[in-house]
Amino acid sequence: MADVAADPLLDGECRVWWARPDQAPDDLLLAVVPEAEQRRAARYRQRLDRLRSLTGAWLLRTAVAALTGERPSDVLVDRTCADCGQQHGRPRLPAAVGIEVSVSHAGERVAVALTRLGEVGIDVEFAPLANHFDHELAENALSPQELSIVDRSDNPGMDFRQLWVRKEALLKATGHGLRIPMSRIEVSPATDPPALLAWPLDIPVDQVRLATLDPGPRHHAAVAVLTGQPMVVHELDAELLLWPEPD
Ligand SMILES: CC(C)(COP(=O)(O)OP(=O)(O)OC[C@H]1O[C@@H](n2cnc3c(N)ncnc32)[C@H](O)[C@@H]1OP(=O)(O)O)[C@@H](O)C(=O)NCCC(=O)NCCS
Repeated sequence: MADVAADPLLDGECRVWWARPDQAPDDLLLAVVPEAEQRRAARYRQRLDRLRSLTGAWLLRTAVAALTGERPSDVLVDRTCADCGQQHGRPRLPAAVGIEVSVSHAGERVAVALTRLGEVGIDVEFAPLANHFDHELAENALSPQELSIVDRSDNPGMDFRQLWVRKEALLKATGHGLRIPMSRIEVSPATDPPALLAWPLDIPVDQVRLATLDPGPRHHAAVAVLTGQPMVVHELDAELLLWPEPD
């Protein structure tokens, strides 16, 4: 493992790891990801969906292990769903570790965010066609004010996707996911620095940090953390974590 992967996670840091779905070899995925999660991934019919899910689980464990000194396969991840109790909800580490995590995968990107600042949500979306704009989806996901700004943009599809990833990152940080309609959250326009402007939750908007990420061409991504502290984001490539699981 490269030294930078084991750099201590600073108090004000949000570390984001990026992988491609095929970046880790199959034998490494199977050595690190527990059988229950392999079975969960096996439910996906498409091979690429299975790979994204397995790679997310591998990346999460390996990124945490780089910080804690454990073997990646020994990292404990609880995924209890708040609704039904099954292991398909937001991932959490034991409280004693003191690190919040989030996972997202789409297209050719798998992302894991880690921070000590507070609860975190990450979202990446894939845009096969740069100019595509689904107006009906935008009507459902945006407030009237946001929609009117996006409608006047030179590239409404791209601006809409920026707003979408900001909103989904926020909803993943709170753990609600899409249980709260995105249209009830108001974020800054795509051309402005990312910020939460209003939402229907008790958490004040100044207690939330948002950042735009750099997932590469044809992808959009954002990360949200529930904290009033300043936040510095570091993005790293999973290549730095590609070492075999020790015997
Ligand atoms: C969270 C949610 C928005 C993710 O949607 P998505 O765009 O398909 O997927 P992403 O790739 O961005 O994120 C998926 C990851 O989010 C994480 N996740 C799942 N539920 C989550 C939640 N409530 N909050 C935060 N993260 C969650 C998981 O790590 C998952 O990846 P994995 O299963 O491979 O580990 C969506 O699953 C959701 O709204 N969940 C809540 C509603 C729900 O499913 N309830 C279950 C009732 S039984």
